[in-house]
Amino acid sequence: MQKQVEQWSSNLSFVLAAAGSAIGLGAIWKFPYMVGTNGGGMFLLLFIFFTLLIGLPLLMSEFVIGRGTQLDAVESYKQLAPNTYWHYVGRLGIITSIILLSFYSVVGGWITIYLYKALTGQLAGLSEKEYGALFGETISNPSTAIIGQLLFLAMTILVVSRGIQKGIERASKIMMPALFIIFIILIIRSVTLDGAWEGLVYFLKPNLSAITAESILYAMGQSFFALSVGVSVMVTYSSYLSKEENLPKSAGSIVLLNILVSFLAGIAIFPAVFSFGLNPGEGPVLLFNVLPTVFSQMPFGMIFFTVFLILFLFATLTSAFSLLEIVVASIAKNNLIKRKKVAWISGLAIFILGIPSALSFGVLNDLIFFGEKTFFDVADFLVSNTLLPLGSLLIAIFVSRILKREELFKEFSQGSKMKRSVFSIWYFLIRYFIPLAIIIVFLNVLGLFDLFL
Ligand code: PHE
Repeated sequence: MQKQVEQWSSNLSFVLAAAGSAIGLGAIWKFPYMVGTNGGGMFLLLFIFFTLLIGLPLLMSEFVIGRGTQLDAVESYKQLAPNTYWHYVGRLGIITSIILLSFYSVVGGWITIYLYKALTGQLAGLSEKEYGALFGETISNPSTAIIGQLLFLAMTILVVSRGIQKGIERASKIMMPALFIIFIILIIRSVTLDGAWEGLVYFLKPNLSAITAESILYAMGQSFFALSVGVSVMVTYSSYLSKEENLPKSAGSIVLLNILVSFLAGIAIFPAVFSFGLNPGEGPVLLFNVLPTVFSQMPFGMIFFTVFLILFLFATLTSAFSLLEIVVASIAKNNLIKRKKVAWISGLAIFILGIPSALSFGVLNDLIFFGEKTFFDVADFLVSNTLLPLGSLLIAIFVSRILKREELFKEFSQGSKMKRSVFSIWYFLIRYFIPLAIIIVFLNVLGLFDLFL
């Protein structure tokens, strides 16, 4: 198998791009509403716990596979375990990415449409209630929702079809620091609103009674979703990485950035939710109902809001690139001409698959599965709480039980001066703790194991 021809131009671009994949809707849009639907502060704590003890070691595992083989998500498993079924882990990752992108692009579409509305002056000067109503109308309108989704996917396809270096790398470099700054501005406004304190307490104070078997599963799923692990996306990204780079350091900085952005999103949103008397458990619409009002209450609010939407769109796009990239890389291999075709065909297929999700907030609102879930919710649940944990479990087993410990140590520490003890902790976590933890969380939800005995 031919190795990847393209490589990241420097470690910084790799970290930026991998962080770009991680930071997106998961941290900014999903995390706050998951906190809101799962009882507040306790979710933050569970999320940090799972991110550090499970997400981080898994991210390292994917890096070790990807950089070690320099091959895509399917070929890398084939090379490491020839003549076995392990490459199905990579294939499972591709299927998961396709389903994930199908509903991810729906929310990407909402941002795209809102950006259009902001740029054309349709968002200025409304009241809190009017912002909520406008958003509801926007996403329930079938043609708006579908056009938004299509536009978002078209942008994703355009960048991915042009190849790694030119496309993904450039966008990530500008977007990250700018997003950070706008969040700080937003937070300053949010925490100085009347009644902000109550929101801070809700977000930061762990409330033990809010823990349920489901909220534990959701917190775990959220940590995988937000870090992009369990789908071999990070295997693919790190396959473009040179042998000199320091893997544990890169993984560590991506994880910290990701926790930081989730945290900032929470601090920006909850004080405002409580100050405006909104319901924190509103679900997927939370961010879009709250933030326009916060922005409208600051000087030059609409300009800031527009800038925020641009950066939010970038953050979401850089994650979408990685999802489409894994599909395209594994089909087109290194063939740059085929790459274009594959990007368009798979992108359009994902669009069609995502249409029912796009309509879930309007005409398909009443199509309910499992007593409470729309098509959109089912797609999200299937990915976040079933396929990502399953993929992660398999990756942990693969790395710790199929690959040789000494080989792992070599790849783990190549490019860094990592101590043996750090490696040993990582190895313990992926070999024993992570598989057990994932299985227990699952059994707990199925009622087959009671964590609260
Ligand atoms: N981590 C991305 C986000 O939080 C979503 C994602 C998941 C991207 C899995 C790639 C793979 O927005």
